[in-house]
Amino acid sequence: MYICICKNVTDGQIRKAVREKGVHNLRGLRKELGACDQCGKCAPEARQIIKDCLHHSVHLETHPVSTALAAMAGPLTERAVVAGNW
Ligand code: FES
Repeated sequence: MYICICKNVTDGQIRKAVREKGVHNLRGLRKELGACDQCGKCAPEARQIIKDCLHHSVHLETHPVSTALAAMAGPLTERAVVAGNW
């Protein structure tokens, strides 16, 4: 779904920027994708997506099942679990 109409940025692109590019705030999002730097109407929703994505990542990193699975399966799987691909 498009979040930033001015720059054609989707929620998926925002989540990917958080996971893969270390974006953790609107400033980083503007720098990485150019989103939220024109009319600004997308800023509240973009901020919420970043917040949710960061919260989800922290939850996966600290979730006991994720941690146990990662320890059993090795480093490659650990990265997949932390990245939210499981
Ligand atoms: S909708 Fe994102 S800057 Fe306008």
